[in-house]
Amino acid sequence: MLAKEYRRDCGIIAVGGGVVTDLAGFIAGTYGRGVPFVNYATTLLAAADASVGGKTAVDTPLATNLIGLFNQPQKVYLDIATWKTLPARQLSSGMAETIKHACLAEKGVFFDFLEENMEGLLALNPALCEHMAEQNCSIKYHVVMKDERESGLREVLNLGHTVGRAIETVSDYRLLHGEAVSIGLVAQLHLACRLGYVTKEQADRVTALLERAGLPVQIPDYIDREALVRKLYTDKKVKNGQLRFVVQKGIGDIVEFEGGSFATPVTEETAREIIMDL
Ligand SMILES: NC(=O)c1ccc[n+]([C@@H]2O[C@H](COP(=O)([O-])OP(=O)(O)OC[C@H]3O[C@@H](n4cnc5c(N)ncnc54)[C@H](O)[C@@H]3O)[C@@H](O)[C@H]2O)c1
Repeated sequence: MLAKEYRRDCGIIAVGGGVVTDLAGFIAGTYGRGVPFVNYATTLLAAADASVGGKTAVDTPLATNLIGLFNQPQKVYLDIATWKTLPARQLSSGMAETIKHACLAEKGVFFDFLEENMEGLLALNPALCEHMAEQNCSIKYHVVMKDERESGLREVLNLGHTVGRAIETVSDYRLLHGEAVSIGLVAQLHLACRLGYVTKEQADRVTALLERAGLPVQIPDYIDREALVRKLYTDKKVKNGQLRFVVQKGIGDIVEFEGGSFATPVTEETAREIIMDL
């Protein structure tokens, strides 16, 4: 951009998946100390999550999601027609963030919709996909409008991401973001069961839906589980060296812990037990 002599009167249009919209938002926030940008999301994952909400970041070999900016796009376009050319694996990856939204909001109504329509959604039925896209945006919007800079409530959107982000990095990005989040959601369900916030039946329902969406629900054999436990400490929710997890309450709600926090401290021993079990 410098070589092409773009100045502060330029703008950036990001056309692509979450990697592109995250990178574009990061560049737009730093180039000339800030130029406007517009996202045109072409993957389900970007439509469901990455392109909306104003979090931008670049991934690195050491950790995901630690280098970035809060930077809102001027506008976001979701083009459902572009999903037609997505490989099935990428479509499934986007479903993970969608199922995450269904687990944490709408009192289970969106979850029921996904359970009823998963095959139709994967077949890209336009009316179903439009409803899903609207629901994803609406759930994220309601959280972000209350806590744009993640000082409290926004942490709920991190459901499944403590283990998810760590496993994405430890897999050396062999796991797609959504695949890693899917495994992270199951890890969080194990914790929620232990803490008594989710029944075994509810956990099985969520796990079954992730599987129907074509997502992994177990840690692959090639992952070094001890390395995964160590990597948990790169999570941005870690406070005073203590791991913290967001936990769902039943299906369609989230646990608010004492003091209004949405993430609870978890000992390394408990985290290790859950990871060894998965
Ligand atoms: N900012 C946020 O709030 C947030 C939230 C969730 C995830 N993310 C980030 O998003 C990234 C993952 O996003 P993603 O899954 O969209 O990945 P991606 O951008 O890598 O896209 C996935 C793949 O699909 C291809 N592709 C894009 N559109 C296509 C289309 N219409 N047809 C065919 N192929 C297409 C891309 O070239 C790429 O190979 C991760 O880096 C993750 O950290 C950010």
